[in-house]
Amino acid sequence: KNIVILISGRGSNMEAVVRAAQAEQWPARIAAVISNKADAKGLAFAASHGIATAVVANKDYPSREAFDAALQSVIDGYAPDLVVLAGFMRILTPGFTAHYAGRMLNIHPSLLPLFPGLHTHEQALASGLAQHGATVHFVTAELDHGPMVDQVAVPILPGDTADTLAARVLEQEHKLYPRAIRWFIEGRLTVEDGKVHVDHTT
Ligand code: GRF
Repeated sequence: KNIVILISGRGSNMEAVVRAAQAEQWPARIAAVISNKADAKGLAFAASHGIATAVVANKDYPSREAFDAALQSVIDGYAPDLVVLAGFMRILTPGFTAHYAGRMLNIHPSLLPLFPGLHTHEQALASGLAQHGATVHFVTAELDHGPMVDQVAVPILPGDTADTLAARVLEQEHKLYPRAIRWFIEGRLTVEDGKVHVDHTT
């Protein structure tokens, strides 16, 4: 199975996926890491692990549609079975999300359906809730609303700032996302009526 990972920056989730795929010898290869920003830190890690990298810079395209079309043709050049969004900070067009329906995952740093969009850690702190977390979901046209695969919760502690909370969530993201991707690769995930079923029988 071929996996293509999209990043925009640091790429720590991408790194966790690459490391898990190697350590656990997944029946899959990371075919490419693609960034919409040329200076994304994660590109160097991918290259140093022998993974093909590409940049499709949104600033070079006049519209979202033109950018998504260019991105889609670069992605499809790697014949992906799965496209993984890992800190990919672009809103995607409906045509793009439809093209990858059922084979594109995202990780979002909140307990969806709470706090879709940006600044989730600030929103979680302001909410007064005792817990925050992260969610892996299939990508659909509506931002951060696709069928959920798995979630992890972490406590919100006295004295937390957005940064301390983000770090606590991120540490868990690095376990949550590789596991969910592995389930996909192993064929354990099915989606019915907008709900994900995970087959743990084999
Ligand atoms: C993660 O918190 C992810 O959930 C969110 O953006 C952050 C990306 O971090 N979408 P990284 O680039 O994977 O290090």
